[in-house]
Amino acid sequence: MNEEQRLEGQQSVVTKDNKQEKDYSKYFQSVYMPPSLKDAKKRGKEEVKYHNDFSISEEFRGLGEGKKFYIRTYGCQMNEHDTEVMAGIFSALGYVATDTKEAADVILLNTCAIRENAEDKVFGELGHLKHLKREKPDLLIGVCGCMSQEESVVNKILKSHQHVDMIFGTHNIHRLPNILKDAYMAKAMVVEVWSKEGDVVENLPKVRRGNIKAWVNIMYGCDKFCTYCIVPYTRGKERSRRPEEIIQEVRHLAAQGYQEVTLLGQNVNAYGKDLEDMKYGLGDLMDELRKIDIPRIRFTTSHPRDFDDHLIEVLSKKGNLVEHIHLPVQSGSTDVLKIMARKYTREQFLELVRKIKAAIPDVALTTDIIVGYPNETREQFEETISLFKEVGFEGAYTFIYSPREGTPAAKMNDNVPMEEKKRRLQELNALVNEYSANALKQYEGQVLEVLVDGESKKNPDILAGYTRKNKLVNFKGPKEIIGKRVLVKVTEVKTWHINGEFVEEVATIGVN
Ligand code: SAH
Ligand code: SF4
Ligand code: F3S
Repeated sequence: MNEEQRLEGQQSVVTKDNKQEKDYSKYFQSVYMPPSLKDAKKRGKEEVKYHNDFSISEEFRGLGEGKKFYIRTYGCQMNEHDTEVMAGIFSALGYVATDTKEAADVILLNTCAIRENAEDKVFGELGHLKHLKREKPDLLIGVCGCMSQEESVVNKILKSHQHVDMIFGTHNIHRLPNILKDAYMAKAMVVEVWSKEGDVVENLPKVRRGNIKAWVNIMYGCDKFCTYCIVPYTRGKERSRRPEEIIQEVRHLAAQGYQEVTLLGQNVNAYGKDLEDMKYGLGDLMDELRKIDIPRIRFTTSHPRDFDDHLIEVLSKKGNLVEHIHLPVQSGSTDVLKIMARKYTREQFLELVRKIKAAIPDVALTTDIIVGYPNETREQFEETISLFKEVGFEGAYTFIYSPREGTPAAKMNDNVPMEEKKRRLQELNALVNEYSANALKQYEGQVLEVLVDGESKKNPDILAGYTRKNKLVNFKGPKEIIGKRVLVKVTEVKTWHINGEFVEEVATIGVN
């Protein structure tokens, strides 16, 4: 769905008792567009449209004057970054941010649909907000993000959470001003979720969290359709931003003094495949970005299948390209990988790791793993354990498989009891901890370059920062070094972090 298709589309309004009424749409300018997983799966052939003309129209000026907004973000960095964009739009409308729900005039829940427990948290929060809404009837409550793209979620909210004022999806956050205005005027719940997309909207305002590290989208969506995963439905088809837009954004961040950028996409290795007028991939992009005077550049997330030799070659040039790669493997069993539709075998994954290590001998590799896939046997799980050891991953996010309605895996019969899945997760986690601690041991007595993020969450007298390989380092030091790269001597190594002593600031004479 793009802007034109939207305008041609059906519009109506859903009243809070869930009855469709015919003609209010024109009067309220409200839009009802139910999400459809079926439509979301259809990948349109229509060209990606690039919009460079985002601006806040006159009719919305002052909409937020004297009002406060609060956004709670769940899920991945993509959502965190969408929150920054929505914060930018709110600010452009005159709203001011608040960090307490009680003080807010508008509350948005930017949701994640990746696993059932992510959704449970949101429904729990919606329950709490009901009381707040009762005390403060003028409060606007909105649900956005990936859960809004699911039919079942929207139906559940329409039915059981009528204190929600607006639901909108991941493809139309640029329409936030319209949606807010509709929500103020309508007596009904405003629902606007585009199931299909086609657009890349540039120059949206952003209020970034912090001025040290920044996220930069390089592409949107995912076309991989791993059989367990909801993301291709909630985020739509793969579409890349133009390289010149990305390069300009990173240059601008460098000029503003940012020290690190993380390039974002669900499968960043597919970057550029959809750019019809040029042959350009992630390797080409990284090769240009490394010339920009910004100390660190990361990217997430990689898909092993699309990780090509050119990218490896570019990464081996290092400089500001850090030697840490997050490379989700999901399983060590070729049979399970096949049912997951990951499109690589155990052997192909190991071969990729071999190539990466040959080019970047000190690379730190981390991964994502799912245990308890439907019908996963004990032997198949053990193959995951053995692959983990063979690669020598330094960290991993580990998950028990969670069925997602509408995905192929959700229809599979499953003979693995939950108790067994939990045991496998525990066993894997013990291994992950052991390997993380071992990886940190190599740093004993060394001096590391740390980008100082700020005060440690647990103790404001301690500073916290990360190394190029994304290892957390805690140490005492003067507050003036926050936001700078410094040298820290390692004094103690724990399972997931390092303790150290501040040595000195890193001299900044260019990065390459
Ligand atoms: N695009 C990224 C990951 C996105 S989701 C990639 O392909 O690597 C982050 C992680 O959540 C995935 O890597 C996977 O390990 C996990 N995940 C996704 N769907 C899941 C599900 N249905 N149940 C359990 N874990 C899941
Ligand atoms: Fe989901 Fe697979 Fe796409 Fe990652 S690559 S977002 S796991 S479908
Ligand atoms: Fe969750 Fe959507 Fe990210 S499902 S992990 S917030 S892309």
